[in-house]
Formats: sequence, structure tokens, C-alpha cells
Amino acid sequence: MQMLITAEKIQHRIEEMAHEIALDYGSEPITLIGILNGSLMFMADLLRELKMPTRIGFLRASSYRGTTTRPSHLEILPGLVPDVRGRHVILLDDILDTARTLTGVVDFLRGQEPASLKVGVLLRKRGRQELPLEPNYTGFEIPDLFVIGYGLDYNDDYRQLPFIGVMDEATIQKATTPELMTEAILEAVMET
Ligand code: IMP
Ligand code: MG
Repeated sequence: MQMLITAEKIQHRIEEMAHEIALDYGSEPITLIGILNGSLMFMADLLRELKMPTRIGFLRASSYRGTTTRPSHLEILPGLVPDVRGRHVILLDDILDTARTLTGVVDFLRGQEPASLKVGVLLRKRGRQELPLEPNYTGFEIPDLFVIGYGLDYNDDYRQLPFIGVMDEATIQKATTPELMTEAILEAVMET
């Protein structure tokens, strides 16, 4: 497995993003809303760099990719959704790919009448976007590769990796055997 972004680079960039947020909000109170599960690490690390009064909340969104005749549909699971009325909200996700998830959640949150709403993503994949959405904060732009780690999963596994690695064809083969995948992860770490 190829290392794309090391843990150190991620941490450094998150410090910079927290600085960008501080420039925009000063000491104004904000609310970070993370989309589960992918935003977990990003939320936890960004949060620790912020100095203003900050609340957090999470929501879960599942998308059912439609066929060409049926447009895809995004369902926001109720129950978790925090009260954001009148708050300055920054919506966080791990990656901006087609932008379907974030566009759906942005529409949903607008309906909750926050004082303001911005979007932050750790990664933005080049050449994949289907809907127009410009994040206010972007960690890294990456090529069109399937990546794992730092919240991003392969079949719901490997979100725990502290770095971003590339899940290429050879690595996907290895993922069928946990031992081989563990070796691939160690190799990626050793090579940097
Ligand atoms: P979008 O709705 O197409 O923008 O997709 C966003 C969601 O797709 C993210 O929250 C991820 O869960 C998932 N996703 C997109 N690209 C990748 C990837 O390279 N690795 C893992 N998950 C991904
Ligand atoms: Mg996912």
C-alpha cells in the first residue's frame, strides 16, 4: 500500500485549518457538525486546535445511489441531529467526492436555520465532483484514487489508520487476508 499523506502532514495541515477558522470567526462561538463515521478523526483533531467556545454534534447520512432514471437519495437519520438554530455551524466530512452527501446535508442544515453555515473537508478528490459545492476549508486535494485511513474506510474497516493510504488493486487483493493487509500497512509506514 502506498502512503499518500503521512500522519505528521495531516496534523500539521489541521493546525493550519484551525488557524484559518480562527481568522474567520475570532472568538465567536461555533458548532462543528460531523458526518458519521468518516469525520470522527478529523473532528477530534481539529477540535483540539480551536480556542473559541465550540460545540459539537454528529449526524448520520446514508445515500442510496439511484440509477439514471431514479436520482440518488440521501437520508439523514434522525435522533442524533443537534440543535443548530442561530448558531455558526461548520459541517465536516472526511472527503468530498461526488459532493452528493455534503450537498444533501447542507440543504438539510439550512432548513434548521443556523446563523451561518460553512463546510470543511479533509480531502477533496479531483475530477469526481457531480454537484457544485465549494468547501470553505479544504485540507488536501488528492488525485482520483480510493484512499483509506484517518476516518476513511474500505468495507467499513481500517478507519483507524493515522495516515491516508492508497487502496490500489494489489492492496485490495491483500485485504482478503488480514495478515497480508497488516503487512501492507506496515510497509506503507516503513517506506516513509
Ligand atoms: P460523495 O457523496 O460522493 O461526495 O461521497 C462522500 C462519501 O463517500 C465520503 O463521506 C466517504 O464515506 C465516501 N468516499 C468517497 N471516496 C472515498 C475513498 O476514496 N475512500 C473511502 N471512502 C470514500
Ligand atoms: Mg464511507
